[in-house]
Amino acid sequence: MAKEIKTIGVLTSGGDAPGMNAAIRAVVRSALAQGKKVVGINRGYNGLISGDIHEMTSKNVSDIIQRGGTVLYTARCLEFIKPEGQKRGADMCKVFGIDGLVVIGGDGSFQGAEKLANLGINTIGIPGTIDLDIACSDYTIGFDTAVNTAMEAIDKIRDTSTSHERCSVVEVMGRDAGYIALTCGITNGAEAILLPEKENMSEEELIKTIIENRNKGKRHNLIINAEGSTKDSVKLAKRIEEVTGIATRATILGHLQRGGSPTALDRLHASMMGSYAVDLLCQGKSNRVVAYKEGKYVDFDINDALEMKKEISDQSYRVSKILSI
Ligand code: ADP
Ligand code: F6P
Repeated sequence: MAKEIKTIGVLTSGGDAPGMNAAIRAVVRSALAQGKKVVGINRGYNGLISGDIHEMTSKNVSDIIQRGGTVLYTARCLEFIKPEGQKRGADMCKVFGIDGLVVIGGDGSFQGAEKLANLGINTIGIPGTIDLDIACSDYTIGFDTAVNTAMEAIDKIRDTSTSHERCSVVEVMGRDAGYIALTCGITNGAEAILLPEKENMSEEELIKTIIENRNKGKRHNLIINAEGSTKDSVKLAKRIEEVTGIATRATILGHLQRGGSPTALDRLHASMMGSYAVDLLCQGKSNRVVAYKEGKYVDFDINDALEMKKEISDQSYRVSKILSI
């Protein structure tokens, strides 16, 4: 028989993402509604190991659904990658009576959750990352807010770039994943996009395209470069200017993409996924990841989820190229 969960812990781990607060709120309120005690764990696995754990009430999560960041703070905890750190985390769960744990984060955080599940703590992961790079889920909390923030910023860069008839290289986040770059490429109408997953245009091809665009009468050239592509934005801008004579500026959007009030889509997915995670724990499930797949909320075994691979959509990539002419 599945063990009955009495106390549910919740933590956020890895890079923060807008909508994490909405997910925390959903976990806390759904758990309270099912008669469970809820505790918040500060700073991801760091707080678990050190016992930075406090009881959460419904009031604790009021007025946070609209806020970016995470009220539980987040961290990358190297100690937790080692078996001794994981054992300390599991021991601390026992000290605080945590028998069910919700981990909101990315693939790295899910690896930690899987280790805790093996040590007897029922754990459920919720995909929270602006990168959209969780293979088992069509959606990850934070992506919509991040691309909207980036899109608005890039529109502004485009205004000034057009006025000055310049070329712009704009770097967006995504160390290993090009979803933000691809989405902005289409929604901002970029002339070229550079992604970590694709064999991108060479510098020569890119420069030739810029010159051809200018000859066609385009007043600006917008190149969106994902953080993890092989090209350095600043060096690329310099090179374009040197060869073409067209003034070129590089802008690195950076962490502004991770902040801000979550969009309706992020609040909705976060609320639904948070509630779903609590349902799974109350059903005695463990080592699962909540996912949004083909329009439905579902769950996968963490190990299976970590084995899955996600490909950049060839259809979207092709369309981005067709529309850039
Ligand atoms: P994300 O969850 O966004 O992918 P990270 O990869 O930085 O972010 O992982 C977040 C945290 O998850 C790490 O700092 C570490 O505490 C934990 N973690 C990552 N990989 C493992 C692992 N293999 N085993 C245990 N814990 C891990
Ligand atoms: O959370 C994902 C992410 O924002 C990536 O897009 C980016 O590459 C990375 O985190 C940046 O991490 P840090 O905040 O540690 O610089």
